[in-house]
Amino acid sequence: MNTRIVEPTPEIITLLAKHLHEGGLVAVPAETVYGLAAHGLDADACGRIFAAKQRPADDPLILHVATTPQARSLTRWNDAAEILAERFWPGPLTLVLPKDHAVPDIATSGLPSVAVRSPQHPVFRSLLETSGLPLAAPSANPFGYISPTTAAHVLQGLDGRIPYILDGGPCPIGIESTILDLRDPAAPKLLRPGAITAEDIAEVLGTPPLIGYQSPADRRLAPGLQHKHYSPRTPLVMVASPPAALAKDEAYVHFTPLAALDYPANNCRALSLDGNGEEAAQKLFATLRELDQAKLATIYIENPPPQLKWREAIFDRLSRAAVKSNAR
Ligand code: TXA
Ligand code: MG
Repeated sequence: MNTRIVEPTPEIITLLAKHLHEGGLVAVPAETVYGLAAHGLDADACGRIFAAKQRPADDPLILHVATTPQARSLTRWNDAAEILAERFWPGPLTLVLPKDHAVPDIATSGLPSVAVRSPQHPVFRSLLETSGLPLAAPSANPFGYISPTTAAHVLQGLDGRIPYILDGGPCPIGIESTILDLRDPAAPKLLRPGAITAEDIAEVLGTPPLIGYQSPADRRLAPGLQHKHYSPRTPLVMVASPPAALAKDEAYVHFTPLAALDYPANNCRALSLDGNGEEAAQKLFATLRELDQAKLATIYIENPPPQLKWREAIFDRLSRAAVKSNAR
């Protein structure tokens, strides 16, 4: 199969909407990361997502919708969902709710609940609006690898496995959506941290959500999140302070300014220098991918500092991708 990167002209959007109605796959830009989209109510189309990504069947998909009424029709909606959607949609917040029977079991890995979100990216929205479909879309990468934040990243991972990549430029946020479990609206549970933080949610609901992603037992609440994830092939080691020395085939990724150190030129990457979590998140996956391609022995990465904005979300991605070390 030939994979084409296409620009989001009105003609292309119409063509891709038709392709989705026929059960095909399209990689699409979201404000978070690129997604691999298919008709969310078509079990065969959803099956093609799992096949293209080589994703395990026990890792459920997120259904993307254009509007809140569409989300209501796919779920058993509740008041907490209503006020959160009103405040944060369209945007990087995914809500887990009891599912309607129209949602195929393959999309939810057989669970009686479904994850829904209304994305903000204008290109994704135009495809949702033109097709009129709920679109199932996990991140558009081979399972377990670093999530894609440009069309070129999608091509690197899925060339020959999907027909179309819709190019919307680099993803502005750069990390996946926050996932909030609202099956019990009286006890909302954060399953994956993201750009919408626990504090943002607490402000709207009046009480903070339970934090459901910290222990391995908690992680089982969010099927799929217990898998190793976001991982470069190069060993990634999280460190509390800069390594004393850096070999030619080692890199150091940092969030705080470096004192003058005798490191080889070109082996350091700053994700932010002033605690700017937005900038760090936006660069995170592209930086890891670039360094992974350099075939290094080790990538060291600074433990994100406490004052970094979106620290929980960035730390979550790194801790799933990295081994921790106290040795250096
Ligand atoms: O930002 C994002 O969320 C991106 C873009 C494309 O929207 N999508 C994304 O999808 O990150 P993915 O497949 O990487 O993450 C889906 C995760 C699953 O691994 C699982 O943890 C959670 O969503 N999930 C989906 N359905 C669920 C359910 N019924 N109950 C609990 N967790 C669920
Ligand atoms: Mg993913």
